[in-house]
Amino acid sequence: MGAMIYLDYAAATPLDARVGEAMRRFGREVFGNPSSLHGAGRAARAAIDAARDGVAEMLNARSSEILFTSGGTESDNLAIKGVAQALKSRGTHIITTAIEHHAVLESCLALEREGFRVTVLQPDAEGFITARQVEEAITPETMLVSVMYANNEIGTIEPLAEIGAVCRARRVVLHTDAVQGAGELDLDVRRLLVDLLSLSAHKVYGPTGVGALYVRSGTRLQPLFDGGGQEHERRAGTENTAGIVGFAEALRLARDHAEHDRIRAQRDRLIDGLLAIPDAHLHGSRDHRLSNNVNVGFPGVSGETLLLALDLEGIAVSTGSACAAGAVEPSHVLQAIGHGPAQAQEALRLSLGRFTTDAEIARVITVMRDTVARLRKHDPHYPHPPQEGCSS
Ligand SMILES: Cc1ncc(COP(=O)(O)O)c(C=O)c1O
Repeated sequence: MGAMIYLDYAAATPLDARVGEAMRRFGREVFGNPSSLHGAGRAARAAIDAARDGVAEMLNARSSEILFTSGGTESDNLAIKGVAQALKSRGTHIITTAIEHHAVLESCLALEREGFRVTVLQPDAEGFITARQVEEAITPETMLVSVMYANNEIGTIEPLAEIGAVCRARRVVLHTDAVQGAGELDLDVRRLLVDLLSLSAHKVYGPTGVGALYVRSGTRLQPLFDGGGQEHERRAGTENTAGIVGFAEALRLARDHAEHDRIRAQRDRLIDGLLAIPDAHLHGSRDHRLSNNVNVGFPGVSGETLLLALDLEGIAVSTGSACAAGAVEPSHVLQAIGHGPAQAQEALRLSLGRFTTDAEIARVITVMRDTVARLRKHDPHYPHPPQEGCSS
């Protein structure tokens, strides 16, 4: 990675060398179609079966409950649209939250255009959704709830097991997008009481373009794709053998408590260093946040300008979700936790990871302090910002 300081692990992680090694044989030596009956096909099938067993074990699930997909986006779409279509005779009401990833929000919007009714729960100022909010929103028509495990922008970890208990008691299907929590958070689906759980490999040092969806046995699901009978007739298309093998290995390696403890300590040092900059504030919860997530706002400095200035210094960060980057839209997550559109543009997300060093954290704090001070000198409004909504 050269001299670059990479603090955007929530957007993409580099492939771990051990994962690359586990994948190396596939495609060249083991290249058969897993559906073929000959030895070459059977070798690929065996590798996929072993990967499926491994992922199932980490989730405390059965192998038959794990589907491999092309990533988090497909898993979210399959879970939400698949359950909604399969259960629409039972009810047409869906509950989700205002801070979900676009893969969930847009899936719900697509269903709304088809006549489903969607309730969007609003989080509190730190990004929390409560089990009580879910309980109060459930009606006899509700058949699906989708609440993310941990937020990709502000890192807030939701009380998923409590929400699971409510949904199980009310016999409502619960989906969770666990893409950001994988590795660090407990993925025991029987403890969490979830019916569907989405994962993505490229957030846990695995390859891009592969993910998984846990589907609890007995949960009805209409496939998204028409085609072959792969993945227990729920996800047509020739399996990505190398990707699946790499994903299972990456997920196994990601469950390293010592690594998460080290990253958490670095994160806390980074938060303390950044909050020492005048007027800086932290977005999300100080305690119940992902060990690698920092999201800060500096009044008077646009997140995008700061991102570009840091890029010139060789520091890679984000303004929020990568999918929203490029678009100048203010973050829907920050607006949901009560920030106005202008304030929401002042956010910067720094996400740490496996290869972050103490020296990098120290340098980022110094560069940020100097850069924020320099950029603020050019802001005629700082330290007296115009009122939100004024045209000046
Ligand atoms: C919370 C969350 N869900 C879903 C996704 C989409 O996953 P993928 O990029 O594998 O499609 C992301 C990726 O940023 C994410 O952070």
